[in-house]
Amino acid sequence: MKDMMICAAIIFSLSEAWSQDPGTNQSISVNSSTSSPEGFVVRNLAFNLGSEVNLDCSNKTWNEMMFVTWTIKLKNKECRIGYSNEGLSDDLCNDGKSLRNTTSAKSYLHIPNFSNNDVGVYKCESVYTGGNDNYLIHVNITVGPSSLSAWFEFKDNKMVAVCKAEGGKPAASISWSQPGNSSSVETASSHGFFTVESRLELLEGMDKENLSCAIRHPYWKGLRILTPINLLKKGYIPWLCILIVAVIMLLAGFLLFAHKKLKTLRRCQQTETSPSKSPPTGDVEEVEPYASYVQRVNSIYCSSADLFT
Ligand SMILES: *[C@@H]1O[C@H](CO)[C@@H](O)[C@H](O)[C@H]1NC(C)=O
Ligand SMILES: *[C@@H]1O[C@H](CO)[C@@H](O)[C@H](O)[C@H]1NC(C)=O
Ligand SMILES: *[C@@H]1O[C@H](CO)[C@@H](O)[C@H](O)[C@H]1NC(C)=O
Ligand SMILES: *[C@@H]1O[C@H](CO)[C@@H](O)[C@H](O)[C@H]1NC(C)=O
Ligand SMILES: *[C@@H]1O[C@H](CO)[C@@H](O)[C@H](O)[C@H]1NC(C)=O
Ligand SMILES: *[C@@H]1O[C@H](CO)[C@@H](O)[C@H](O)[C@H]1NC(C)=O
Ligand SMILES: *[C@@H]1O[C@H](CO)[C@@H](O)[C@H](O)[C@H]1NC(C)=O
Ligand SMILES: *[C@@H]1O[C@H](CO)[C@@H](O)[C@H](O)[C@H]1NC(C)=O
Repeated sequence: MKDMMICAAIIFSLSEAWSQDPGTNQSISVNSSTSSPEGFVVRNLAFNLGSEVNLDCSNKTWNEMMFVTWTIKLKNKECRIGYSNEGLSDDLCNDGKSLRNTTSAKSYLHIPNFSNNDVGVYKCESVYTGGNDNYLIHVNITVGPSSLSAWFEFKDNKMVAVCKAEGGKPAASISWSQPGNSSSVETASSHGFFTVESRLELLEGMDKENLSCAIRHPYWKGLRILTPINLLKKGYIPWLCILIVAVIMLLAGFLLFAHKKLKTLRRCQQTETSPSKSPPTGDVEEVEPYASYVQRVNSIYCSSADLFT
């Protein structure tokens, strides 16, 4: 029973994962600005995986601006990109990040296709005639859960509905369509991804048919709704699972059969070719047609006999 449940849950979550669309590629900012001691304004931002990111550092245009420098501290490297109004430019990052101008000639840092490698601390210093703007921007990434699943199970003689979102960053939040005693457990993987599992205890007389869970994540525009699959219904047979297992067994059987036959065929070919390598001498030449005839008959006999036993 447990195996079936796991199998069905896997199939279900697979189909769920396939049907997922990537959601928006818009940036999501976690606002919070505080002044740090050195006159840097600290910002925390998070962006969606794969999005185009533009970070700005000052509102001044190149009319007043003298230079701008980004010092970027990433997980595995530290690099600098800068530009001065005298035309001196600097790009030690060489990873696609670039300085660009808005139509109104304000400078900003452009990151194409935001990924895990771009997570880090971006320090920006810009100097203009009469002052400067300095920012310390903590840039984080938002990644949607890689798989969603929901099912019913028995625990301690109680029916429980379970809803699970795996591999998101930050953690997804799960809620149920009906009130009840639910508990949520978050587990973090080594790479900072979160798996959230919410369990709802079902009470007598609860409407199981219309029960669903809603999963929210900042990576998505809306929410995802799942209906737990009822593996405990009387007479439930996981046909899909049985079918898949049957197909796999059939395939494995066929491969084994084919492999065996190939081996016997090869053996037969070897017995066929080895005698014909005898060095040609005057006497043998007359005998050869007969010899090769015997060999061919032998090989036919060998292969047909081997193949059909
Ligand atoms: C990101 O969104 C913009 C519009 O908001 C769209 O033009 C662009 O193709 C999207 N990029 C990706 C990688 O989805
Ligand atoms: C920034 O976020 C905090 C909560 O984290 C919120 O209270 C505050 O109103 C937000 N500020 C702005 C300007 O949106
Ligand atoms: C640019 O100006 C706007 C409005 O004056 C302000 O809200 C914003 O924080 C400024 N940005 C920077 C980088 O100084
Ligand atoms: C941005 O504008 C400045 C001043 O006009 C110019 O020197 C610089 O080349 C521009 N940068 C880009 C990337 O277009
Ligand atoms: C963004 O990067 C990922 C992996 O590095 C790649 O698969 C994808 O095609 C890229 N997208 C764009 C729009 O360049
Ligand atoms: C990025 O966000 C995750 C949660 O989404 C958090 O655990 C992590 O500490 C953040 N990293 C940084 C460098 O702020
Ligand atoms: C909710 O469930 C927990 C553990 O499953 C249990 O300890 C608690 O008493 C339950 N609360 C209610 C109101 O049923
Ligand atoms: C489920 O919802 C539908 C429509 O809202 C309703 O007609 C039906 O009676 C509900 N099922 C149960 C078992 O309450």
